[in-house]
Amino acid sequence: MIGASIQKAVTLLQMEKIVAIPTETVYGLAGNAYSPKAVSAIFEAKNRPSFDPLIVHVADSSRIAEVSREIPAALQPIIDQFMPGPLTVLLPKNEKISDLVTAGSDLVAVRIPANQLTQKLLQSIDFPLTAPSANPFGYISPTQAEHVEAQLGDKIPYILDGGACEVGVESTIVGMEAGQITIFRKGGTPIEDIEQVVGPVKVRAHSSSNPEAPGMLKSHYAPKVPFQVGEIKALMSKHVGKKIGILSFTEIYPDIPAAHQRQLSLNSNLREAAQHLFAAMRYLDGQELDIILAEWMPEEGLGRAINDRLKRASA
Ligand code: TXA
Ligand code: MG
Repeated sequence: MIGASIQKAVTLLQMEKIVAIPTETVYGLAGNAYSPKAVSAIFEAKNRPSFDPLIVHVADSSRIAEVSREIPAALQPIIDQFMPGPLTVLLPKNEKISDLVTAGSDLVAVRIPANQLTQKLLQSIDFPLTAPSANPFGYISPTQAEHVEAQLGDKIPYILDGGACEVGVESTIVGMEAGQITIFRKGGTPIEDIEQVVGPVKVRAHSSSNPEAPGMLKSHYAPKVPFQVGEIKALMSKHVGKKIGILSFTEIYPDIPAAHQRQLSLNSNLREAAQHLFAAMRYLDGQELDIILAEWMPEEGLGRAINDRLKRASA
């Protein structure tokens, strides 16, 4: 059921049930991070392998100390600058956070979402919320309450509706590796913005099943229809006779039916493109096409997070 009652969400969460919540990045599937029952229910509803750890969401920076035993000094300026917001930090966990949440790692991923409803929700409860994106494992992340309803509606009691997500791609994940500030997932906070605060950072390339970066699984965010990324015109010539869907940055393709193409931003704005990305992928995935052809965004700002999703959607 979709609704906008914070009180109902609070009550369900206190009962160790799971509830879908809006964040500025994507919708999350939330439960009490201290409840093994709620945490197991999340893995089950998503069909998520237990080696893939969950992010823990807290209301404000004063509550980070409730889940982590220390904050590496190098990460403090990043926390001060970008949280609340589309950023997650990897911190040494404390004993209240179970191995189930972190998949056995000594680190816990912590995020402070900026969405108003979820902020109010977090301020109304005395436990943190652990929440992965609210999609079946491996599929496109949800950026609207209706996306969650369509896929998990029968498995969860409540979806808190906060409208369409403003950022549209998951949080950037930052942590320390070998003493260096390292980006483990490209996301809603551009790497350039982080580098303005702390100088050059290391960016972790994709890994497959390394427990230090499980969310970087090679194939992820994938539509059901075959999905290819590259130069759209060149790709089109290889798929003559097929029902083609197009996911472009700005260009319109007059030879393709309007209903079979989506432009991410008609005025070449990467923030807008990120906002529209997952909804456009979902839309095209529902059009009974033979193949979806997408193109790379400029590799800068949020374009880097979008390209990362396109790459893994096509893997
Ligand atoms: O924007 C977001 O981050 C959204 C919203 C709902 O907060 N959440 C999200 O969660 O994207 P999820 O579960 O789809 O991705 C979480 C990823 C994991 O796959 C993993 O890569 C990383 O976060 N992660 C979580 N805990 C970790 C840990 N202890 N060590 C390393 N990576 C971790
Ligand atoms: Mg996810």
